[in-house]
Amino acid sequence: MSKSRFFINWNYPTAMRVGPGRVRELPQLCREMGMATPMLVTDPGLVALPMVQAVVENCLVAGVPLTVFSDIKGNPTGNNVSDGVAVFKAHGCDGVIAFGGGSALDAGKAIALMVGQTHPIWEFEDVGDNYLKVNTHGMMPVIAVPTTAGTGSEVGRSSVITDENAKLKKIIFHPRMLPEIVLLDPELTIGLPAPITAATGMDALSHNLEAFCATHFHPMAEGIALEAMRLINIYLPRAVADGNDLEARMQMLVASSMGATAFQRGLGAMHALAHPLGALYDKHHGLLNAILMPYVLSANRSAIEEPMSRLSRYLALPTAGFAGVLDWVLFLRRDFGIPHTLAEIGIGEEDADQIAQMAAVDPSAPSNPLSFDADSYRGIFLNACRGNL
Ligand SMILES: [Fe+2]
Repeated sequence: MSKSRFFINWNYPTAMRVGPGRVRELPQLCREMGMATPMLVTDPGLVALPMVQAVVENCLVAGVPLTVFSDIKGNPTGNNVSDGVAVFKAHGCDGVIAFGGGSALDAGKAIALMVGQTHPIWEFEDVGDNYLKVNTHGMMPVIAVPTTAGTGSEVGRSSVITDENAKLKKIIFHPRMLPEIVLLDPELTIGLPAPITAATGMDALSHNLEAFCATHFHPMAEGIALEAMRLINIYLPRAVADGNDLEARMQMLVASSMGATAFQRGLGAMHALAHPLGALYDKHHGLLNAILMPYVLSANRSAIEEPMSRLSRYLALPTAGFAGVLDWVLFLRRDFGIPHTLAEIGIGEEDADQIAQMAAVDPSAPSNPLSFDADSYRGIFLNACRGNL
């Protein structure tokens, strides 16, 4: 693989610095953004790794001292965000480097939003025109550096934050939460274990697949989603099989960013169910989507025959049409050792009614190709518990 082939600067959907080893440009990017004392937001697992220590050291040597904040949960909470804001202010920080998986990226973006606000974070939930209440002058600039290929949060305009009191995952949205610079460096994802590579990669697939099936008119997003799924088909199995495959890691980071770019078109029932399940059971978001995927596809079948036929042809799957795509998804899950049922990850049926009601009003639900009510969601959830395809 020629590394130089992957050195490229993009400005769509935001400024993107792409290429192996480019994390070393971080101090220079901070200066470009006018950040003299940034806060690096990461997670407790990453903060102890040499990778993060090297970033901190590199920035310090280059004259950009970082305040590190890593006190965040796997599903970051409102309290995590307010704690981060307090640290940001106490250290006189002037920008955020969101560094890590979806949790760190979402927490970092939310902290940058909340530094200059007077309203509580829940008033900025992605409902109606809530975002107009944001004091945009109080928003801090963000550089996003993903270390997993899945959430695509680095190119997203929202953060998923858990409201622990309400036991709800809420989408906090403002158009300017889109990070100003994204750094896609595949060397940062090399150490990711195979199960996390698989689960995060399946989250990227779910974004592209749901965006591709969503109902809103957005041909640009459709094209991006389709090509991203071609990349995932080729490179996710390679990245899972050999974590050191730098080309596969690079292509998966791009496919992940493409997923979040595409889902401006909307998501669907996989995410409508994965959000309440994540909030109630604290399970890995990508794993939930991966388990739910075939059940949701089957429930949507009557409305997605045409796009699935196009997808099967574009991917050159052995079987055409819906059946071919379903077989492909099942094959990927088996190949990656992802369980077939929610029961296998310890989710029982006792909360079915609550989950169904939460899914029906989830912000991802309206763009699902079919309009499911709580009863329909209950049926999909039970199928996913029992393995009824
Ligand atoms: Fe997702």
